[in-house]
Amino acid sequence: MCGIVAYIGSKPARELLLEGLKRLEYRGYDSAGIAMLNGGLHVARTMGRVSGLEEMVIDDEAFNGTIGIAHTRWATHGEPSERNAHPQCDDGKKGHGIRIVHNGIIENYASLKTYLKERGHEFTSDTDTEVLAHLIGELYNGNLETAVQAALREVTGAYAIAVVCEEEPDVLVVARKGSPLIVGVGKDEYVVASDSSAIVAHTTQAFLLDDETVARLTRDSFRTTTVENVELTPEIQELEYSLEQIELGDFDHFMLKEIYEQPATLKTCMQGRVNAIDGNIVLGGVAEFAEQLSKAKRILLLGQGTALHAAMIGEYLFEGLAGIPTEVEFASEFRYRNPIVEEGTIAIAVSQSGETADTLAAVQEAKRRGAITLGAVNVVGSTISRDTDAGVYLRVGPEIGVASTKAFIGQVAVLTMLATYVGRRHHLGKELMTELLAALEAMPMHIEKVLGESDHILQITKGVVDRDNWLFLGRGTNYPVALEGALKLKEISYIHAEGMPAAEMKHGPIALIDKGMPVVIVATKGSQYEKVIGNMEEVRSRGGHIIAVATEGDTAIQKHCDDVIYVSDVPEPLQPLLSVIPLQLIAYHAAVLRGKDVDKPRNLAKSVTVE
Ligand code: F6R
Repeated sequence: MCGIVAYIGSKPARELLLEGLKRLEYRGYDSAGIAMLNGGLHVARTMGRVSGLEEMVIDDEAFNGTIGIAHTRWATHGEPSERNAHPQCDDGKKGHGIRIVHNGIIENYASLKTYLKERGHEFTSDTDTEVLAHLIGELYNGNLETAVQAALREVTGAYAIAVVCEEEPDVLVVARKGSPLIVGVGKDEYVVASDSSAIVAHTTQAFLLDDETVARLTRDSFRTTTVENVELTPEIQELEYSLEQIELGDFDHFMLKEIYEQPATLKTCMQGRVNAIDGNIVLGGVAEFAEQLSKAKRILLLGQGTALHAAMIGEYLFEGLAGIPTEVEFASEFRYRNPIVEEGTIAIAVSQSGETADTLAAVQEAKRRGAITLGAVNVVGSTISRDTDAGVYLRVGPEIGVASTKAFIGQVAVLTMLATYVGRRHHLGKELMTELLAALEAMPMHIEKVLGESDHILQITKGVVDRDNWLFLGRGTNYPVALEGALKLKEISYIHAEGMPAAEMKHGPIALIDKGMPVVIVATKGSQYEKVIGNMEEVRSRGGHIIAVATEGDTAIQKHCDDVIYVSDVPEPLQPLLSVIPLQLIAYHAAVLRGKDVDKPRNLAKSVTVE
């Protein structure tokens, strides 16, 4: 959700900021802008992509400075346009040359705007960010740090900001609350960004700003304080990401790269945790809550989008393997209901970014109501990972593709590990446990095999890619897989797709089926196989074009469908880890065949840090 990058040091800031913005563009890409202090204040903003901004400034000597801020935007307040792009400024007539880039939402911007208008401020954009810029300007008295602190004391909402001021050309001030911001520490330089992918090319030493913390950076010093000006000592840590992880390499798109990384990232996710020989799971991150987990009366799984689909699989796993009543909730709904959280509830927030506003608020709500809270989160040090009592990291590395793939596999793997970890302390026998863990350990190899089918999947997709309405069906743990397949397809190819339990189709959606309508059915061998075959026949008799995901060796299925993609035979609880892979590839190929921008789908941004 919007990307921020800021720099102060001795290197040419323009190249560094543009490169950082390109790395952050997956967080938002409807407009971009840059402000540079270089013997005066220089600003460029444009609608659209960072490449457009680059063309504007690359040969302009005014942008040869060594201090600047930059932004790539995903619009919340105000339509995407140049005047609403960041950096925003304080009042042109009576201002101090303040420029600000901002992620998040200033909730009380309307009342602040009224107050500022009464004091003679005139506004030129529709953004809440401009209000914050004017407020800082109004409170400015020769010290940018003090003015930012004072302004932030008046603000409600979420923010990550970077601010410069023409009157203090050697100072960069940054701050955050509820939206991530990382300060990379180099030799006599600082690179600040909303995620570490814009930093690791320059330094791997960094500190995370805490909520309601302000940092004042000069070329050779930094000072961090609360908004109340209480001085803090942040802990400088080593960033875990390597440059290679955030580069495309030989792939055409990050999504494809991340699909292909899944065997490796799943291995990393399980490393040191799954021990099939001993039939044991070791989860250091939740060890201190082992007893509460085994005595849990209820598990509550919270997430949005793809993470919610992983959570839905988790529900089957916790109930099936651990025998614990489990509920899954859209985090966005849970937080505004009056949910009943009984004693002994463990709430698990499932999230790649660890910053999704609704998931964060929901897990905080569960905590307020007495639940123990755990995170199944990818980004280390993210807000959810810090706000929960404990957790298990996904360890899948940075996910840049807006459509989540490897994080989904990580989320399902972590929930599988948690369910077996708890199950073993309940009724899950050693034999079944050992069998499941051995199958889990072999899963990367099975995924690799499906990836080898990519060309075959491309040919199948070519046959139906011109159709504008698709269905995805599955039963049991493969029902959330069907939801995920439909979500992947619609978000990157803009094809309308619906996922549903296979049996639900008869209750209305079957009316949609006409000749040649693509219907993707997950029909792997398992307890509901025969019933799924029945559902396939219902589709077939109405002329639908069936693409089945089936278990290797099941040649009999061919007479029920038009196309078949085989996956290895694995225990039913683990099938989602495998059956989702062909669906990811169908979505990818469909988007490429339709000429869509796979890594930057329209209207979307990675990590939704606003409600
Ligand atoms: C879809 C997708 C989104 C996210 C959702 C939650 O491909 O990526 O649906 O899954 O926005 O994001 P996280 O996992 O960061 O909480």
